Amino acid sequence: MPMQERFLVDVNLSTVPLFKTRCLVIGSGIAGLSAALAAAARGQVILAAKSDFMESNTAYAQGGVAAALGDDDEVDLHIEDTLKAGGGLCDPAAVRLLAVEGRKRCLELIDLGVEFDRVDGKISFTREGAHSRRRVIHADGDATGRAISRTLLQAVRNHPNILGLENQFAIDLLHENGNCRGALFLDTRYGRYTRVEAGVTVMASGGLGQIFRETTNPAVATADGYAMCFRAGAELCDMEFIQFHPTTLYLAGAPRFLISEAVRGEGGFLINRAGERFMKRYSEAAELSPRDVVSQSIFKELAATGDTCVYLDVSRLDPELVARRFPTILSVCADYGVNLPRDPIPVRPAAHYMMGGVVTDMNAATRVRNLYAAGEVAFTGVHGANRLASNSLLEGLVFGHRAGKAEPGADAGFGPAALRKRLPAHGTRLDIDDITRSLKSLTWRNLGAYRNAAALSETIEKLKAWSSYVLAEEFHMRPGFEAQNMLTTARLMVESALRRNESRGAHQRTDFPETSAAWARHNLISLNDPE
Ligand code: SIN
Repeated sequence: MPMQERFLVDVNLSTVPLFKTRCLVIGSGIAGLSAALAAAARGQVILAAKSDFMESNTAYAQGGVAAALGDDDEVDLHIEDTLKAGGGLCDPAAVRLLAVEGRKRCLELIDLGVEFDRVDGKISFTREGAHSRRRVIHADGDATGRAISRTLLQAVRNHPNILGLENQFAIDLLHENGNCRGALFLDTRYGRYTRVEAGVTVMASGGLGQIFRETTNPAVATADGYAMCFRAGAELCDMEFIQFHPTTLYLAGAPRFLISEAVRGEGGFLINRAGERFMKRYSEAAELSPRDVVSQSIFKELAATGDTCVYLDVSRLDPELVARRFPTILSVCADYGVNLPRDPIPVRPAAHYMMGGVVTDMNAATRVRNLYAAGEVAFTGVHGANRLASNSLLEGLVFGHRAGKAEPGADAGFGPAALRKRLPAHGTRLDIDDITRSLKSLTWRNLGAYRNAAALSETIEKLKAWSSYVLAEEFHMRPGFEAQNMLTTARLMVESALRRNESRGAHQRTDFPETSAAWARHNLISLNDPE
């Protein structure tokens, strides 16, 4: 997909205020915070986020962190479950590293002060889909991500080597000749540009759920890191694999609020409007099948019944358990008149997590020198075609930490990194809300759980047409940049989905319903790929 390499703005960098640091971390989710803390042991760090530091996908994570810490558990079982869920595309070495180092990093979180829930003094484990053991540790019931973010953020704020900059939207990486030297930011409160030059840059900017009409992701998840790294020459991989979480609250006017998989792990089950427990018809493991299987089964059930949602029935659960384990879910449901455990929760799948991303090695290095990536934006090979539940916070912890240990290369430093001139702006009057709304509808229709060549090709043509004027615009404001990043990343996803002529994991092609041995491989995409 030959797309032009250029930056989103044309500024004279010499006029832009400059910060210099050994390490720049972009993003304040679990990967960014872990990277910042690891890097701070080695020198100065700037941690920048586009909103406030608590606003990230991590802070909304409910279920928990998967780690083989239980008496009946073993690292090898965690590895086996991860590989099985990943549909043949996980990198076994990366998965081993995840499971082994993940345990260590979780114990460090406890030392740092994260209070994982306990029963009789012992850490309590919950079950989620496709785990062979109760393996998922959690905090504050269903507010695990918030508890972890709070503790890591406190450590970051207390660290003398870390300068935190909130409300800094990263527009583009500063790079030259395949070498990254930091990033250009827009201070979204004052509308001013800032330049951060760094020996090492860690992209930990999170996910892209906002590309879709229905998503569990917060408003900040607008694909910025994928698009920035792509423009800087990094390789991306397996961008067709977007995970749909099976159960998000589905009520007119309510947010697409996640109803944690742990609710099913604790005994909740899915019923259709007639009250029938339908999952058994689709999969032996029923509600605790891998996430791709549950989401696809719900879509099939909806198609068969003509309904718009199914229901999560928790009426058999002990009310005390529901209140203790799921206080946030209980309270949000109550806000919309759904009283748990009595009432069934109306749910349907929504875009949740990108398994693909910016290709990194085991040390989180991308192919752009001195540029590292960690967390959802990165592709480490641990998730394959379908991520095992609660492996994402773990991945952020493990690879964020590794990224933070990176040493600047010989050619790192504060040189004349440049922004290449972009095309002159068209000066078109653009309704950015309309662009993002149109994009979300298009992707939901054509890049959802089921795809086919005709719909994907139509989507590419539309994205090309919209990009021809939207990417030519110079916005100088966050929503415009976000729309550009989402358009670019959506195009990467659709091109990748069109290439993969098979069905596997989260990528289901109605025109290629079988899994193909020829496609037991990764799907790379980068600038200047032949069309
Ligand atoms: C959940 O609580 O269901 C989400 C956990 C995850 O995405 O792994």
